Amino acid sequence: MQPGVLTVRAFAKINLSLEVLNKRPDGFHNLRTIFQTISLHDVIGIAVSPGEQAVTLESDLEIPGENLIVRAARAVLAETGVSASVHFRLEKRIPMGGGLGGGSTDAAAVLLALPGLLGCAVPLPRLMEIATALGSDIPFFLVGGTAAGLGRGTELYPMPDAAGGFGLLVLPDVHVSTPDAFRSLNRGEAPPPGPQVSLTEQAGLALAAGDPSWAGACVNDFESAVFARHPLLADLRSQLESAGASPARMTGSGAALFGLFPAEAQRDQAAARITAARPVPFELLTRQEYRQRRFASPTGQ
Ligand code: C5P
Repeated sequence: MQPGVLTVRAFAKINLSLEVLNKRPDGFHNLRTIFQTISLHDVIGIAVSPGEQAVTLESDLEIPGENLIVRAARAVLAETGVSASVHFRLEKRIPMGGGLGGGSTDAAAVLLALPGLLGCAVPLPRLMEIATALGSDIPFFLVGGTAAGLGRGTELYPMPDAAGGFGLLVLPDVHVSTPDAFRSLNRGEAPPPGPQVSLTEQAGLALAAGDPSWAGACVNDFESAVFARHPLLADLRSQLESAGASPARMTGSGAALFGLFPAEAQRDQAAARITAARPVPFELLTRQEYRQRRFASPTGQ
């Protein structure tokens, strides 16, 4: 292998809709979700050189525990059998613990970029297996765009792009633990009784048909439990709605919220008005944009 450097962008996701069905024998929950990649991103510089195997990471932010970037890199080195030293420089822009998939997208960016830098190819089905072993949200980031997620969230069905809209994230200073959020739902082992076609399925079917009514069917099953503990989040969601956002929802298990506005001016007005949390404008990324914009210039801009 040759020494090499590459800078990649790792884009965040939102869950346009998210239902938690039942507890599985493996301790995870079955989900029904619609994932969507957005323009907010981390920047990861990767440098490889031949030599003894070593993986190092420097970051502008302290990251607790063993970083998923390091785990993803070790998995790629083990898979390819290449002995190399890999150094990462992470510029963290996606807030951690927000339900935006920050750690997961970083890991997926490594799975996608590192084999090529090492002069190897890992087939996508094998990358999917490695991603699934590392975390439930990571396989989605190998696909990007708009996709339905079933099972643990790792069974993916790419969908037509949820085009248009002007997005606004609000990032309250609230941390929600994902395992706690799942536990607080108290799901049993049997799927909950419900309508034949759930709200997320309605949203997905409308979205696939290009019917704008999809926005009205989006739900997030974590909202009631998380809002009960953090009433500020319910208030922020109402503010997004009254400013004209549809949908306006929490993403993942929170605590970030998003709104999609029909007009840029409306979005910008909402951003100026919502002061109880940090507002961050964003755009939805189609699958093609997700693939094309992944490779950043060396400055990451
Ligand atoms: O897969 P990941 O490491 O991201 O999951 C973090 C935690 O979230 C799991 O340990 C589990 O408690 C919960 N989870 C779940 N069902 C899922 C995904 C995550 O219960 N489908």
